[in-house]
Amino acid sequence: MILEEVVTDVSVRLRPVVEDDLAMFRRFAVEPGLIGLDWSGFRDAQAPARQFAIDGFLGDDDGRLMVDVGDEHGAAGYVSWRPGTLGPAKHWEIGIALLPAWRGRGIGWRAQAMLCDYLFTHTPVQRIQAGTHPENVAEQKALEKAGFQLEGVIRSCEFRAGQWRDGYLYSRLRDDVSRESPR
Ligand SMILES: CC(C)(COP(=O)(O)OP(=O)(O)OC[C@H]1O[C@@H](n2cnc3c(N)ncnc32)[C@H](O)[C@@H]1OP(=O)(O)O)[C@@H](O)C(=O)NCCC(=O)NCCS
Repeated sequence: MILEEVVTDVSVRLRPVVEDDLAMFRRFAVEPGLIGLDWSGFRDAQAPARQFAIDGFLGDDDGRLMVDVGDEHGAAGYVSWRPGTLGPAKHWEIGIALLPAWRGRGIGWRAQAMLCDYLFTHTPVQRIQAGTHPENVAEQKALEKAGFQLEGVIRSCEFRAGQWRDGYLYSRLRDDVSRESPR
């Protein structure tokens, strides 16, 4: 299982959330657009602290891990997962948000590949899925490099920026591999 990787000048690793990370979560909740296309208006900035107090973002059914880029730099962002069902079996739906300064440096695809390794190692799910926006080319490419395949267009699935919009659905199955090794 890969939980740590060296990328150019930084070492990428997934680790549990600590209290100091809550400041980043508060920023994503109240700084318009910081999170990217997933911005859907102001959110309760105290909600992450309440969730952290309950389960440290490592609940039985959902969670977050920080994308850590070394002691000097701190966290570049976070990855998340939550359950979904398409029949009797549970699958995970994952998400990611990096701070703008860390985007486009090979961190996003590696972090998502590492999260898949982590979830396939510690939970018996067969399927991990991820949705993204038609205009989010960086995430589409990052998912494909992390071993995901495009399944199709989900029509009018998301109300964002004033209108209903289509989304792209990707999945990675337990036996699928990354197009490139995050090693
Ligand atoms: C989307 C996101 C996770 C991608 O991670 P990243 O670290 O920026 O992407 P990577 O550096 O790993 O690049 C992965 C691929 O996308 C390409 N890419 C990166 N940024 C790009 C951009 N702005 N436009 C087009 N392609 C881009 C890279 O070149 C690479 O492809 P390649 O190897 O074929 O050249 C990151 O940009 C981010 O957090 N964005 C804001 C939040 C977000 O959009 N989350 C996903 C919501 S669905």
